[in-house]
Amino acid sequence: MTKTPFYITTPIYYPSGNPHIGHCYTTVACDAIARYRRMQGYAVLFLTGTDEHGLKIEQKARAAGMEPQTYVDGMTERFRKLWDVLNVRYDRFVRTTDDYHIRTVQAVFQKLYESGYIYKGQYVGKYCTPCESFWTPKQLVGGKCPDCGREVTNAREEAYFFKLSTFTDTIGKLLESGTFLQPNSRAKELIGNFIKPGLEDVCVSRTGVAWGVPVPFEPKHTVYVWFDALLNYISALGYKNGAFEDFQYFWPADVHFVAKDIMRFHAILWPAVLTVLELPLPKRLAVHGWITVGGEKMSKSSGNVIDPYVLMKRYGTDAVRYFLLREMILENDSAFSEDILLKRVNADLANGIGNLVARTVAMVEKYFGGTLLAEQEAASIDEPLIKSALALRDKTDAAIDAFRLNEALAAIIEVISLADKYIDETAPWSLAKDPSRRTRLAMVLYNLLETLRITSGLLVPFMPTMMPKVWEQIGATEEDVVYDKLNQWGILKSQATVRKGEILFPKREVGN
Ligand code: MSP
Repeated sequence: MTKTPFYITTPIYYPSGNPHIGHCYTTVACDAIARYRRMQGYAVLFLTGTDEHGLKIEQKARAAGMEPQTYVDGMTERFRKLWDVLNVRYDRFVRTTDDYHIRTVQAVFQKLYESGYIYKGQYVGKYCTPCESFWTPKQLVGGKCPDCGREVTNAREEAYFFKLSTFTDTIGKLLESGTFLQPNSRAKELIGNFIKPGLEDVCVSRTGVAWGVPVPFEPKHTVYVWFDALLNYISALGYKNGAFEDFQYFWPADVHFVAKDIMRFHAILWPAVLTVLELPLPKRLAVHGWITVGGEKMSKSSGNVIDPYVLMKRYGTDAVRYFLLREMILENDSAFSEDILLKRVNADLANGIGNLVARTVAMVEKYFGGTLLAEQEAASIDEPLIKSALALRDKTDAAIDAFRLNEALAAIIEVISLADKYIDETAPWSLAKDPSRRTRLAMVLYNLLETLRITSGLLVPFMPTMMPKVWEQIGATEEDVVYDKLNQWGILKSQATVRKGEILFPKREVGN
């Protein structure tokens, strides 16, 4: 059977500082979706990378007394290392300084020029270097950058422009289609700010920036960093560069996953460029809010970044992944504090799944010496738990389809809570006192093990390090937790054997 392709991308990050928790959110979310799709049997290509050109990077490198290339070589490694430590399994890592990427950028620029969509003009306006964004005086807010509120500089130079103005209707329709942008509630903002007033042509080259891809037919110009960056999504598949053969199979992307600050580049400029190239548009653009600290976006320039290594050391990699994915609701910003993290991780992981594993395994050991009786007696009180566990996979599927990872996790934790309630209701410790109830007791514990098999199987894309440890303890094999068996009951042998192990998610206190 041939597999269905699934292509998912993160933004390519500016390697101008250390990656922080904000970057981690997008990457870990894509990783969870990619892992879930692999589990479902898709052929997945998960792309991430770094966006290494532009004035900001050049200035950073010079300030560090380094050549830009040496600087980005070092910084990019920090991103890769963090993704490794976070157990992010990407399939390809694109760097905009890679030769193949540069070939694609130049080929596309040339093609757009030849087809008349890129022309030479004069740029007169404002530029925000930290955001790498051009603004007209009208767009400024109180004379400052409308995105980040910082000072802008005057830019007046000969430049190449892309005829974005001819796309107002096409892009307007795309945004109104309701399927491209997820959640579509964000379309209103783009329509109001950009489509209603009419799109304007955008500057796609600069003469004052040496650190960039040279315009092929006039190398004193370098390609504007956003134009360069967006092309990563196709250069990494081999489009017009011969480095990979994946374009036919994987394009169009199933989803580009980005935060709201860069939505407009992906929702307006990118589809317009693809239209000129006569390429299909990405199927979805999923946009999430920001991780905030004290109401402000977490960012290096605000000086409020949280170092992921500190959190991982304290709480464990999977706990950090879980927290990020459980807290973010697509439409909203998500406030970060260690207190919120602690409450969430203690409630859902330490007292939730961790405790359920420990209790269940301990009971199987105590009452049955580690291996259940084959003979088991069902009761009607078992049904609600079994039914909820069997219905869970459909819920997580739907949540993943909608990029609502928090909803997938909430649904799983709800089944864990049901299992806790089931323990209270069936009171295994009372059953254990009555030798005539051994078959009933075995059934109760078996149902708990099956619930753990299903829930941990569905959790593995989110917590890939710890869930295999659950399987060891409950005696499940990899074969028991394949996707096809996650909506089936009765997969573990009735004579299931458990093995007590470490405490999976120790309860924490702040600073411990
Ligand atoms: N280089 C561009 C993207 C080019 S994509 C063709 C860029 N880079 S960035 O390093 O600034 O990273 C932007 C992305 O990082 C955001 O879209 C988001 O995915 C993630 N985040 C950075 N800070 C964030 C928060 N505080 N909260 C959530 N996500 C954040 O823009």
